[in-house]
Amino acid sequence: MSLTKTIADNIYYVGVNDRQKELFENYLPLPQGVSYNSYLIVDEKVALIDTVDISFAGQFLNKLEEILNRRDVDYLIVDHMEPDHAGSIGLLKNRYPNLQIVGNKKTFDFLRGYFAIDTQLVEVTEGSHLALGKHELAFYMAPMVHWPEVMVTYEITNRMLFSADAFGTFGALNGSFLDADLDLSTFWDEMRRYYACIVGKYGQPTQNALKKLGALPIQRICSTHGPVWSNQIDKVVKLYEQWSRYEAEKGVVVVYGSMYGNTQLMAERVACGIVDGGVKNVVVHNVSKTDASFILSDIFKYQGLVIGSPTYMGELYPLIDSLLTKIRERGIKNRIYGCFGSHSWATGAVKKLTAFGETMNWEVAGVPVDNKYGFSAESNAQCYEMGKMMGESVSKSGRN
Ligand code: FEO
Repeated sequence: MSLTKTIADNIYYVGVNDRQKELFENYLPLPQGVSYNSYLIVDEKVALIDTVDISFAGQFLNKLEEILNRRDVDYLIVDHMEPDHAGSIGLLKNRYPNLQIVGNKKTFDFLRGYFAIDTQLVEVTEGSHLALGKHELAFYMAPMVHWPEVMVTYEITNRMLFSADAFGTFGALNGSFLDADLDLSTFWDEMRRYYACIVGKYGQPTQNALKKLGALPIQRICSTHGPVWSNQIDKVVKLYEQWSRYEAEKGVVVVYGSMYGNTQLMAERVACGIVDGGVKNVVVHNVSKTDASFILSDIFKYQGLVIGSPTYMGELYPLIDSLLTKIRERGIKNRIYGCFGSHSWATGAVKKLTAFGETMNWEVAGVPVDNKYGFSAESNAQCYEMGKMMGESVSKSGRN
């Protein structure tokens, strides 16, 4: 059985599936695994584009050998130095000692820092070309999508863009690497979760990269994670344009923390109000049950956001506090916001949630609700009213 697959004209997919790791970057759940994609171009010169996580180096080197049959790799092109892609560089260099590493100035800072490699380097800058024979490569810098050294490689002959993390998804590849051969139904949500968690802070750099790459004719997008995009290129580019501008669909995320159920009852009532205000797409998340990465993904998806928290030691409920940090770090813009909370002897959470919305410069829908002791009839009415105003505000604006 062949372990390798051809994408085009002597260009091979040599990536691997990781179905073992529980947590990407040791904190993001991987219910469907993840792939680390690497690509090999065999011509008068042999070029490898990125490597894989070191845990899979054995399998990866076997794939290369199956194609190359003792032939050398001449160039390793390093589009991104994060260890999920660069992890096998040291072992690759041992296996192919004549290897020259192609990167930019920043790439080589990382290369020295991670691997103490400082020789046999080929430095490229914006628009540099590298001829392999029939295949010719061009390089474009894409800083902060997702690290500062990131660049992308464009293969001119077949119009293939090797895009580093951009357009990547969580999810291992089931039997093929090509979008046309895969059931993509689970990949769209996982692509947005990947964007929200990994790239989401860098909206403007992503916009810059999209603008620059928009001038290139592209027949394949080969990311470092997930499917190779061929017949879905227009869709994935459009999604990246929307997410990097923080554009969202008509819908509302209600997320709450609750110790004994009172704040949850508030959330339920807010959700009823939202639906009666005219919005059907309502997602309610218990922050103690749903991993924050899935909540963030929904916050990138929908225009409305309502957050509820009990007061805990005079502060926000810890998991809500952590979620606010994640939202703030990503600079999420243009949301319609509401908040609510509960307390028993001293209020605190609602003031902090209100201040959070102000710092994010979001439009506010309705009046924040602050419930004391058990869920009261007054709070019930106020939560419904606030939800209804949220639903009406989202109905009137935003995308479909
Ligand atoms: Fe898949 Fe930023 O590494």
